[in-house]
Amino acid sequence: MRIEELSFVKAFIRLATDGDRRGWHERNGGNLSYRMTGADINACSAQFDTAAPWIPVKTAVPLLAGDCILLTGSGKCMRNIAAAPTDTVGIIELNGRGDAYRIVWGLIKSRPTSELPTHLAVAALKKTEDAEKNRVIYHAHPAHLIALTFILPIDDARFTRELWEMDIENPLVFPEGIGIVPWVIPGSEAAAAATLEKMKSYRAVVWAHHGTFVCGDDFDDTFGLMDVLEKSAQICGEIIAMGGKRQSVTAADLNALADMYNLHLNEAALVIEERRDCPGEI
Ligand code: 13P
Ligand code: ZN
Repeated sequence: MRIEELSFVKAFIRLATDGDRRGWHERNGGNLSYRMTGADINACSAQFDTAAPWIPVKTAVPLLAGDCILLTGSGKCMRNIAAAPTDTVGIIELNGRGDAYRIVWGLIKSRPTSELPTHLAVAALKKTEDAEKNRVIYHAHPAHLIALTFILPIDDARFTRELWEMDIENPLVFPEGIGIVPWVIPGSEAAAAATLEKMKSYRAVVWAHHGTFVCGDDFDDTFGLMDVLEKSAQICGEIIAMGGKRQSVTAADLNALADMYNLHLNEAALVIEERRDCPGEI
């Protein structure tokens, strides 16, 4: 079977297409990576180009030594992935020291996403936490989340609490909360380092005035997290446009939910003083 016909590649393409339909990927905005399993590698390694040149990575990731990652190319449009997978996505293999990679499939005359430093850093971190989890890492430019970074304080607890309140099932989806990184230069090592720090506590990190990184165990989990966050940000924006909250979920309500579903909710977001009249200053 050709690599683009394998089920994990099809699931990757489906996420990219769905994200584009949601309007999260203007031009070449956003990128996606998937750390392949041993079974995935076995299914396609016979088709790998093992003569491809090794390219150094700026910050070595020894924890990913020997791993293969399916990812989007730099400057590629999510809307084109389904029609031309081998031009727009590819598989990179990390060498035995994790300090260089080679493109073993796809990305014809192209190179991996400019956000490779962040994808690699987060993939390595999540692998150390649990090698079987958080294989998918997804960066998108969802408009409502970005808009909120111009209004709400750049503060993890405040964003978390505001978005929890927008849908009472949200604390079940991201009980640990979300992280907010102040403005960083796209594609930089500094962006990777700041995201890595936040990803130690969360699975979702918003880059102020730019976009969002999320990770998940599979493609549905990952897309679902982005979708939940963005829909909640949309509701939040509409409330602000309507003049602000007049009533909402309370800390007592959130605690009751946590008891019933055995959740460990982010403490800092729980204890924020409630101010119903003024979203952004909860
Ligand atoms: P790439 O096209 O290099 O993936 O960049 C898109 C992007 O969103 C950068 O943050
Ligand atoms: Zn971006």
